[in-house]
Amino acid sequence: MTNVAHGGTLVSRFNPSLNISSIHKTITLDAIALSDLELIGIGGYSPITGFFNEEDYLSVVERLRLADGTVWSIPITLPVSDAELATIELGDTVKLEKDGVTYGVIEVASIYTPDKQKEAEKVYGTKDEAHPGVSKLFSRPNSYVGGDITLIHRQEPAFEEYTFTPAETRAIFDEKGWETIVGFQTRNPVHRAHEYIQKAALETIDGLFLNPLVGETKSDDISAEVRMESYQVLLENYYPKNRVHLGIFPAAMRYAGPREAIFHALVRKNYGCTHFIVGRDHAGVGDYYGTYDAQKIFDQFTAEELGIQPLKFEHSFYCTACEGMATTKTCPHDHEHHIILSGTKVREMLRNGEVPPATFSRKEVVEVLIKGMREKTEV
Ligand code: ADX
Repeated sequence: MTNVAHGGTLVSRFNPSLNISSIHKTITLDAIALSDLELIGIGGYSPITGFFNEEDYLSVVERLRLADGTVWSIPITLPVSDAELATIELGDTVKLEKDGVTYGVIEVASIYTPDKQKEAEKVYGTKDEAHPGVSKLFSRPNSYVGGDITLIHRQEPAFEEYTFTPAETRAIFDEKGWETIVGFQTRNPVHRAHEYIQKAALETIDGLFLNPLVGETKSDDISAEVRMESYQVLLENYYPKNRVHLGIFPAAMRYAGPREAIFHALVRKNYGCTHFIVGRDHAGVGDYYGTYDAQKIFDQFTAEELGIQPLKFEHSFYCTACEGMATTKTCPHDHEHHIILSGTKVREMLRNGEVPPATFSRKEVVEVLIKGMREKTEV
């Protein structure tokens, strides 16, 4: 299996020396659009070269493909306020700003009004505003602007040491001599279940790219800062150094379950991964998706058109009778022997100063999480 970029060529649209002195029109970016701009610019979203025009938007919403047929599952859109839209015409080159900083420009090729009800239903599988992705979708402006972008300025990286472009991770994997690389998406600390499936993959794959998402997440998820510290202590104590590479994924979380799993896999392909872990309830939230829907969606596509192989794992847990991590595929014991805690339950325990069991999370990770919780409540 070769790990060429999605669509065949790794996109690069970063040009810090672009002269923008003659450009006066402006579109204001929110946190999601800024992270998308950056990911388009550095090639994370290859073959995408800009925010979606109407044709690609409709095609992705309806049939999980760009207009040219390439598989893509999440619309990459630029919502623009009515006030800013009033100043913009097709063909304009417009600055993309946030908090007074110009991060890029867009060549405006499409201006359209999306059917957000349909987008919610198709992409998120629900119109329920209690869904964090849907509520975010509805809260953004109601007109979209599409067109190719140039990234001019990258955000100051919060985790510089762990910030890489897809071209850089590809070079790192080559240098390490890894031919097969498994990507791991997470928005959580790495608990024993995550570690188990990562290490199960590492028994046959050359290297693990631990690629935590650090863009916008819902407010009750554990902060990226605390998570990054927890990954460091875990890797330091429990993983062979030459088999793992830790690098951040700057995207926002959409909580779109199955559609987001495809998106997560394709972007990791661009970072150079050949395989991608999809466990239980990947990118899910609440009860909106079935436990394994995010695995089943991969069956809609051929191996060739995906170009990255999903590694599907059952719900894993610690079994007190097996005295080890297991899944229902490997463990014959009853439910009562299985240590299963939800993320919500763990956050609640940490908030109450309770220590989750070592069978759920490594002690070094728990220490970091408790410290993080304390600092959060002291602020
Ligand atoms: S996600 O929203 O980023 O998918 P999370 O960080 O919890 O959430 O999960 C990271 C990856 O681990 C996902 O592929 C998810 O399916 C998988 N996963 C999480 N917990 C388990 C578990 N107990 N058993 C199997 N897979 C799991």
